[in-house]
Amino acid sequence: MTSSRSPHRRLRRYLPAVLTAAIVASTVAATGTVMAANRAEAATTLGASATATGRYFGAAIAASKLSDTTYTRILSTEFTSVTPENEMKWDATEPSRGTFNYTSGDRIVSQAQSNGQQVRGHALAWHSQMPGWAQSLSGSTLRSAMLNHITNVATHYKGKIYAWDVVNEAFADDGQGSRRNSSLQQTGNDWIEAAFRAARAADPGAKLCYNDYNTDGVNAKSTAVYTMVKDFKARGVPIDCVGFQSHLGTGVPGDYQSNLQRFADLGVDVQITELDVAQGGNQASIYGTVTKACLAVSRCTGITVWGIRDSDSWRTGENPLLFDSSGNKKAAYTSVLNALNAGSGGGGGGGGNGGTGCTATVTPGTVWGDRYNTSVTVSGASTWTVVVTMTAPQKITSTWNGTATWDASGNVMTMKSNGSGAAFGFTTSFNGNTTARPQISSCTGS
Ligand code: XIL
Repeated sequence: MTSSRSPHRRLRRYLPAVLTAAIVASTVAATGTVMAANRAEAATTLGASATATGRYFGAAIAASKLSDTTYTRILSTEFTSVTPENEMKWDATEPSRGTFNYTSGDRIVSQAQSNGQQVRGHALAWHSQMPGWAQSLSGSTLRSAMLNHITNVATHYKGKIYAWDVVNEAFADDGQGSRRNSSLQQTGNDWIEAAFRAARAADPGAKLCYNDYNTDGVNAKSTAVYTMVKDFKARGVPIDCVGFQSHLGTGVPGDYQSNLQRFADLGVDVQITELDVAQGGNQASIYGTVTKACLAVSRCTGITVWGIRDSDSWRTGENPLLFDSSGNKKAAYTSVLNALNAGSGGGGGGGGNGGTGCTATVTPGTVWGDRYNTSVTVSGASTWTVVVTMTAPQKITSTWNGTATWDASGNVMTMKSNGSGAAFGFTTSFNGNTTARPQISSCTGS
């Protein structure tokens, strides 16, 4: 496939450079039911291809590597999201009690902003990589130190983080679905919800995620997380997303996609947060399977790989990433790119709503101090339904050239053509979050 129609490139031609970063972050083209014709538009980078499905494609990065030119070339070309691999963890951000150090985390955020990439914050509360001083605390003293930590870090990065891993790895691998027996757990079983409430109060614009490993298929551990999320939703504990680390070996659970879907059905987004796969006969196909699973779940909003080159990986010697140690694309890279370019239809064949394909392309409009405009152009169908998802607390305040309806949360707008043409638009008020932009969740023609 030689043709490339990266939306980023297209826009750069006629927009001032100063706007480019913002536009890269907010340009979205999505295909609902993907048809062969759309594949002619296949993009040639992971980020652009994921953007064309309304999703991000990210990498974990290290501040210490930002002076490596091979690393930064791949980073800025291929990825639309970053996660600091270690720089926002508790030991890095609060090395002594009450003294905060944001130097490396800030470096990653400013690099991401200049590349137009969004940032996943990782991780506010975790039993591992706690600073020594916090390791020596327990009970109510540890509880208040944890809450103070969350409040400070989330406040520092307020408005700059797309999603936070608020709590990481809180469940045990005992096959019983128990909580991990950590000093944080010993502060009381409600420590997880206390952490989420503190994060929401500090940064109401960030999506708040629970993140864990060995939860990639349906098993006792993932079911325990599922039960917790269901309970949180029922009781109004603020949670928006669940991260599936997906540190995989030589196989992928057969129920990977249905596991993602059961969480999405609880009303949370799901994200693949730390993907890496042991190098072996199946590496490329496992990467493809994981990518297709995310694309088949409309609330799977993006994929992050845990590093760029094999030499950057924490899994020394396992070569689990998409680029080799010299920065060359591996077969696993091609497998992911091809899966992304096959769009959001997944490999399941049909199963849809009987609609035809269409493409919805976002063009950012005027930005004021308190609000901004967005235009969406639809191609491939003259009668269409486009679903647009907003990040709270942003709210759409007016629309034009379409008929809009809303879900109960008020964050998801379904816009139907009303005979006024191939484009519609809307005004969004920031309500305190100036960085989030609308996501196209689907485009269906009829
Ligand atoms: C790893 C980093 O990649 C290493 O550099 C560090 O030494 C240890 O932590 N689950 C997580 C990540 O949530 O934070 C871990 O990252 C990998 C496992």
